[in-house]
Amino acid sequence: TRVMVVFGGRSSEHSISCATAGGVLGAIDRDRYEVIPVGITRDGAWVLEADDPERFQLNPESLPEIVDNGTRIMLPDTVNSREVFVDEYGARRSLGVIDMVFPILHGPFGEDGTLQGMLDLVGLPYVGSSVFAASAGMDKHYTKLILKHAGIKVADGVTITERRWMHESEQVRAELIDGFGFPMFVKPARAGSSVGVSKVHDASEIDEALRVAFLEDDHLLVEKAVIGREVEIAILESMPGERPRASVAGEIKLSGAEFYDFAAKYLNGPGVELECPAALTDAEFAEMQELGIRAFEALGAAGLSRVDFFLTEDGFVINEVNTMPGFTPISMFPKCWQASGLSYPELITELLEVALA
Ligand code: DAL
Ligand code: MG
Repeated sequence: TRVMVVFGGRSSEHSISCATAGGVLGAIDRDRYEVIPVGITRDGAWVLEADDPERFQLNPESLPEIVDNGTRIMLPDTVNSREVFVDEYGARRSLGVIDMVFPILHGPFGEDGTLQGMLDLVGLPYVGSSVFAASAGMDKHYTKLILKHAGIKVADGVTITERRWMHESEQVRAELIDGFGFPMFVKPARAGSSVGVSKVHDASEIDEALRVAFLEDDHLLVEKAVIGREVEIAILESMPGERPRASVAGEIKLSGAEFYDFAAKYLNGPGVELECPAALTDAEFAEMQELGIRAFEALGAAGLSRVDFFLTEDGFVINEVNTMPGFTPISMFPKCWQASGLSYPELITELLEVALA
């Protein structure tokens, strides 16, 4: 099977996607799969990349990055032709027919349905959610609407558009202070890895938090800080006709970090530990698995997702659903599956096989 692995991309999670690629390129079963590695630069150029896992390691001092090497990938322009070409400074050569795409892209222009739509247009099968679920899962505002409708508890919050903030900032400020109290979290609707997220401790921090979030998106969420344990579960779609499966749960344990921000996630920031399996009672674990699968199904997700929760005094609250979760060898998604008996290479095989089934 010939798989085009696509990574990098135009979003602020570019480097994390490259690190995910490093993990996947290093672990994919080479006896079964032939890999065509394709990087997308931050400017959106699709380039043929080296098939070299070492190049894309998650090094906190210098995060991996796709540079424009002058090559250009050309997707098929006819449905079902599946032949991919590369243009190297004007010389075009075929890379042959591919069977599928593994878009390990995080954030907008990759995890949000845009790329999925393009692949649908040319009839290329791919791993993960299709257009609607990818878009809905990328946007924290719409994720909440869908989960609420499915009867799943989500964090209290409001959505604020940039237009409203520009015209009614006084009123918005007052609403936030009266409505939530401190601390509150401000999050861009469509971003990931905590890019653009701030914890706001008092009124003087509101404007800056909104400014930073609006750099990522034109609408954002403000939420009351949820008090509870931060627990996550990984979901995998099964073969056609079977219910999705949930892994064991993992827990984010903060000691030094104030919240699970970008530095804590990827830059060896202060005090974060991923514990897997999380210490939960059998009843809690069963409920979490059921809620995770229900959230996956409510969005109409496919392939894989990581569902992030808070376990509060009043039970589970879903924070968000990631349709293309971080997949570096140290990430929660593969960790949870490993602890459930599925190794990292087996997990990749399973994702590819389900996408082709
Ligand atoms: N958005 C990051 C990659 C995650 O959900 O793991
Ligand atoms: Mg996320």
